[in-house]
Amino acid sequence: MTQPAFWLRCEKKEFERRSALTPTTSKKLIDAGFDIYVERDEQRIFDDAEFEAVGCKLVDNNSWPSAPTSIPIIGLKELPESDEPLPHTHIQFAHCYKRQAGWSKILSRFHRGGGTLYDIEFLNDPQGRRVAAFGFHAGFAGAAAGALALAAQKKGESLGLLTPYENEAAMIKDVKERLGGSGKGVRAMVIGALGRCGRGAVDLFRKIGLDEDDILKWDMAETAKGGPFQEILDVDIFVNCIYLSSQIPSFITHDTISAAGKDRRLSVVVDVSCDTTNPFNPIPIYNINTTFDKPTVAAEVGEGNLPLSVISIDHLPTLLPREASEQFSGDLLPSLLEFPSRNTAQVWVGAEKLFKEKLAEAAAVEGL
Ligand SMILES: NC(=O)c1ccc[n+]([C@@H]2O[C@H](COP(=O)([O-])OP(=O)(O)OC[C@H]3O[C@@H](n4cnc5c(N)ncnc54)[C@H](O)[C@@H]3O)[C@@H](O)[C@H]2O)c1
Repeated sequence: MTQPAFWLRCEKKEFERRSALTPTTSKKLIDAGFDIYVERDEQRIFDDAEFEAVGCKLVDNNSWPSAPTSIPIIGLKELPESDEPLPHTHIQFAHCYKRQAGWSKILSRFHRGGGTLYDIEFLNDPQGRRVAAFGFHAGFAGAAAGALALAAQKKGESLGLLTPYENEAAMIKDVKERLGGSGKGVRAMVIGALGRCGRGAVDLFRKIGLDEDDILKWDMAETAKGGPFQEILDVDIFVNCIYLSSQIPSFITHDTISAAGKDRRLSVVVDVSCDTTNPFNPIPIYNINTTFDKPTVAAEVGEGNLPLSVISIDHLPTLLPREASEQFSGDLLPSLLEFPSRNTAQVWVGAEKLFKEKLAEAAAVEGL
């Protein structure tokens, strides 16, 4: 029997420093008998040497197209656009199962090459829950960005370029410093506080020094009374982390903001959920996604009132690439260890079945 293996490819998406495998998870795979090939990558938050030190085999940057087709290629984000057929097995987020722009073209590359896609977004446990997701660090980073925006606003400025932090300690230190030493005294509210993103946001607020009583944690029970909610206007930072699945009353509106006038404490809204273009977005006070280079957009507040900044960045975990990768890769590990029995292991069987369905749909659309 040949040795099981994975080939960690480089990421080509700008600003993406996260990694599907980390030195920690690579070591665990190696200990379980896998060969781990790692493409040299300057962009990745982990140094090549960290992988080499745990026994990975370093290979050239972006050399996966010439890897043996028996070795599955693992990565995070989409492959660069191309028409090249894909003969390998790929494990990654491909964003092509929900008829996103270019979906059938991407799948047609697998059709022509005979390769297989296991989309990480659709790796589910027997209860139908995703085995690995980035939510916690999205909330954590979103809350940090919110605190930075508040600090900037207090100085009469707007928040400038956000750059990924080396690690969590560096992020916490920077946020506390910019808040004048600690977040004590800041009041924050997290809606969706029981979810992955929500728990991350609450954790950040605790770590930068907010008093427990100053972190309002709301979930379904608290919003059941129906919005809009005055309570949101009475905190400094509001972080929305809900998973929106149906039409619900707005949490906050232009009217409630204007009506609060000068009595409004709310200075920053972080919409981690980012249902920006969803007609049921419960935060209908902005209509663009913000970015790392321009993290905030000003909401309409009415003449003479204090500003209100909105952050709606849809790739927040990138701000904390090391910890986000470690947590994600650690959650993925049990499934990766099962990969050699992918023909019977539920998580892989389910993902392959879905791939075949989507491949057939794409082939029909592309006339293959
Ligand atoms: N901006 C980013 O970078 C980023 C990254 C990851 C995830 N997300 C998004 O964040 C959202 C949440 O993801 P998650 O993984 O934390 O989901 P999750 O399912 O783990 O948690 C969602 C929480 O929202 C609560 N909720 C749902 N409807 C609610 C309501 N009406 N009132 C109060 N609480 C409500 C749920 O009870 C649950 O606790 C998703 O839309 C996801 O796509 C954004």
